[in-house]
Amino acid sequence: MWTPRALFSTLALLFHLLHSARSDRSPWNTLTGNPPLVVAHGGFSGVFPQSSEVAYNLAVMTSGPEVSIWCDVQLTKDEVGICLPNVILDNSTFISYIFPNKSTTYNVNNVPTNGYFSLDYTLKDLSNVPLKQVVYSRSPVFDGTYMILTVDDVVKSGAPQTPGLWLNIQHDAFYAQHKLSMKRFVLSVSRRVRVNYISSPEIGFLRSIKPRLNPKKTKFIFRFLDQNETDPSTNQTYGSLLKNLTFIKSFASGILVPKGYIWPVDDSLYLQPHTSLVSDAHKLGLEVFASGFANDASFSFNYSYDPLAEYLQFIDNGEFSVDGVLSDFPVTPSAAIGCFAHLGTNSTKRDKTLIISKCGASGDYPACTDLAYNKAILDGVDVLDCPVQMSKDGIPFCLSSADLGESTTAVKSSFSRYAMSIPEIKPGNGIFTFNLTWTDIKGLTPSIVNPFFAKYSLVRDPKYKNAGTFVTLSDFLLLTKNQTSLSGVLIIVENAAYLAEKQGLSVTDAVIDALSKAGYDKPGSQKVYIQSTNSSVLLKFKEKTSYELVYKIDETVGDVADAAVEDIKSFAGSVVVDKVSVFPRDVAFLTSSLTRTVPKLKASNLSVFVETFSNEFVSQAWDFFSDPIVEINSFIQEAGIDGVITDFPKTANRYSRNKCLNLGDKVPPYMQPVQAGSLYGIIPSESLPPALAPLPSLTNSEVVEPPLPPVTKIAPASSPADGTNSPHKNVQPKVTVCFLSNVAVFVLVASLVLL
Ligand SMILES: *[C@@H]1O[C@H](CO)[C@@H](O)[C@H](O)[C@H]1NC(C)=O
Ligand SMILES: *[C@@H]1O[C@H](CO)[C@@H](O)[C@H](O)[C@H]1NC(C)=O
Ligand SMILES: *[C@@H]1O[C@H](CO)[C@@H](O)[C@H](O)[C@H]1NC(C)=O
Ligand SMILES: *[C@@H]1O[C@H](CO)[C@@H](O)[C@H](O)[C@H]1NC(C)=O
Ligand SMILES: *[C@@H]1O[C@H](CO)[C@@H](O)[C@H](O)[C@H]1NC(C)=O
Ligand SMILES: *[C@@H]1O[C@H](CO)[C@@H](O)[C@H](O)[C@H]1NC(C)=O
Ligand SMILES: *[C@@H]1O[C@H](CO)[C@@H](O)[C@H](O)[C@H]1NC(C)=O
Ligand SMILES: *[C@@H]1O[C@H](CO)[C@@H](O)[C@H](O)[C@H]1NC(C)=O
Ligand SMILES: *[C@@H]1O[C@H](CO)[C@@H](O)[C@H](O)[C@H]1NC(C)=O
Ligand SMILES: *[C@@H]1O[C@H](CO)[C@@H](O)[C@H](O)[C@H]1NC(C)=O
Ligand SMILES: *[C@@H]1O[C@H](CO)[C@@H](O)[C@H](O)[C@H]1NC(C)=O
Repeated sequence: MWTPRALFSTLALLFHLLHSARSDRSPWNTLTGNPPLVVAHGGFSGVFPQSSEVAYNLAVMTSGPEVSIWCDVQLTKDEVGICLPNVILDNSTFISYIFPNKSTTYNVNNVPTNGYFSLDYTLKDLSNVPLKQVVYSRSPVFDGTYMILTVDDVVKSGAPQTPGLWLNIQHDAFYAQHKLSMKRFVLSVSRRVRVNYISSPEIGFLRSIKPRLNPKKTKFIFRFLDQNETDPSTNQTYGSLLKNLTFIKSFASGILVPKGYIWPVDDSLYLQPHTSLVSDAHKLGLEVFASGFANDASFSFNYSYDPLAEYLQFIDNGEFSVDGVLSDFPVTPSAAIGCFAHLGTNSTKRDKTLIISKCGASGDYPACTDLAYNKAILDGVDVLDCPVQMSKDGIPFCLSSADLGESTTAVKSSFSRYAMSIPEIKPGNGIFTFNLTWTDIKGLTPSIVNPFFAKYSLVRDPKYKNAGTFVTLSDFLLLTKNQTSLSGVLIIVENAAYLAEKQGLSVTDAVIDALSKAGYDKPGSQKVYIQSTNSSVLLKFKEKTSYELVYKIDETVGDVADAAVEDIKSFAGSVVVDKVSVFPRDVAFLTSSLTRTVPKLKASNLSVFVETFSNEFVSQAWDFFSDPIVEINSFIQEAGIDGVITDFPKTANRYSRNKCLNLGDKVPPYMQPVQAGSLYGIIPSESLPPALAPLPSLTNSEVVEPPLPPVTKIAPASSPADGTNSPHKNVQPKVTVCFLSNVAVFVLVASLVLL
């Protein structure tokens, strides 16, 4: 049932409603010197159907009362203004299910357009037409539940707070052709409520309404569309109007432009130098608002998939600031403005959670290369990691996997014929490091890890996809040794039993030796963490060294049995778990608050490190609003984790320095942790697949392992290069790369709920 009040109170649980602390006044390069305005595009349309009541509620709740809420006004046959994103209703509503086969064709700005038009229906006709997500990649679970709102409804939906109201009149000329008047409607609504902004891409409309409204109460904003498009009221292209801002100033106090008008991107999605538009407009006294911001859209590679970085580029670039941004995810610009702008490069760290890299900054450069490591250090990582692999000639080096196929181009090299299956190491085929000498490996081309390509076609920075060189463990330790910003190194040891027994290689001895040679066994050096999923490896290190031992639980668990905790505690000081073991998920929503996993481990004084925090929105549950900062903040504030393992250390480092931490009850709404489970709780049950089985508990028998086998003496094999008699001739040289298992699983749900 659609009960607005009940929904509101459920949503209120999402965020503890607290007053936002007005941050210290900073010099903003906006026209007025005030902080930029956040405009919520149809509410929080990144989560809920655009212009639904819940979308507006969530926008206000997560952004604070300074937010303005945006409505694209369309007119019904009886001239009531409703809020829907497009002039045709097909994509944003289920109208074609309610009125089958009723679409028509009208000329919209001289373009024949087929679809359902609001002007053919009265408000009453539309009263039971449900909304749906316009953007296909967003979760469909809330489709079919919320109804079309009138402009007057939208004003009420902001209550009890009073956000600003921004009405966008995209089509005045079109409705006028059908004898409906936007002007009449807007004048009537503005007698009932305060309309703070009116925008339109039609000069004729703005000029006709301007004399009728008080410019002190209502600002008129001219909206630019693509430069080649034409304003139907003047027949001028937006490109030519852009050259005549003085003229625009005669009827508008500001302009709204697609963000590329300010920071253009080239065809390969790299950011180009900014235009002079903002300063030109400011000189004339015009405010500049930028549109097109969404955390889940593909934006320039220069931002490394961090939406916050993009907002900061527009509001805190040292030269200018736009006066507002139009966003589908208003929580992110709110935080950018309230917590992250004007931090400076040398701001103090306000959070002590360890930032641990994942093969260096492997979101920006090929994993475990010199470039990835140097970038991670530059980006403020606390603990730099090296997953140790062994070459055939016994050299320990850093690489994400024993399978060279994961982060090199070995599959496309002459070594592809070495592909084979070793189920003890990984499912499927691989080209394994212990089959190649270090000289061969060093000669391979690195390849950036793209964990979200296969499923979501998201790639990481193509410019650097094959850059960098691989490093031996000793090179790595030489690099880390003198870095005063690092508090430690994390050495990851896997497959020790296989390497000893089958390859005659002792990875544990190789690591102990390299650390000792680099002086890491001496007092006063950085902390050394040794991580393994196999307790026998850690016991070996415990016997021979006094490094901090980290046990990685390599399955998703909802709890850890007491005996298992006791056992882990007997050899390790820290534990690594995946994100889902902390906050369980279903259809990529958090299903409930914390599992027992973290509280249980922490109660025994074990530190808990969590992996993997990535910038790409598909790696996060929907509850985190496609914003990596919201995710990190919630894990730290709600779960109290001790370490964040990330392939984008810059994001975590920026988080740890933001101004809104440790403010007690003054933490603004946009820096509150999310209430896990509250979005899941309002998904109609018809939209959910059958309930998942609860997560298993880690048992003691999974922790206890037999001791490491002795190192087998292996006679040196004949050089592989001269032998054509590979024992696995029939295997495909194609390597299946097996990626992280904790990626959000998108289940497309039949979610149409029509009553
Ligand atoms: C509606 O969706 C279709 C494809 O699903 C797309 O081609 C079209 O551009 C969309 N129309 C609008 C007005 O968004
Ligand atoms: C709508 O049109 C389709 C074919 O275009 C037809 O099969 C269907 O029966 C029509 N439905 C109604 C309700 O008229
Ligand atoms: C705009 O028009 C110019 C010249 O007519 C053309 O080169 C350009 O590709 C067009 N741009 C877009 C976005 O359509
Ligand atoms: C714009 O062009 C159309 C078609 O060429 C014409 O009918 C219309 O009168 C023009 N409008 C203006 C404002 O010049
Ligand atoms: C700006 O636009 C006005 C109104 O259309 C026109 O009179 C004026 O000539 C234009 N100026 C320039 C420099 O294009
Ligand atoms: C964006 O990245 C590209 C490629 O690394 C670089 O050449 C360009 O200067 C960057 N743009 C900006 C505005 O920083
Ligand atoms: C950064 O801060 C540290 C300690 O607060 C100070 O020693 C250092 O000089 C500062 N560096 C810059 C470039 O301001
Ligand atoms: C690779 O290693 C496997 C397992 O030790 C061995 O059977 C095979 O001969 C090696 N192949 C080459 C080409 O070195
Ligand atoms: C590290 O610092 C020590 C002492 O300050 C110095 O002797 C050594 O050469 C430095 N090593 C590197 C790799 O810079
Ligand atoms: C954890 O550490 C605290 C302080 O170091 C100590 O008081 C407490 O007894 C420890 N708890 C357990 C379960 O070891
Ligand atoms: C852990 O190492 C032991 C040898 O110490 C080995 O027998 C066991 O198979 C390993 N466990 C896993 C899960 O790899």
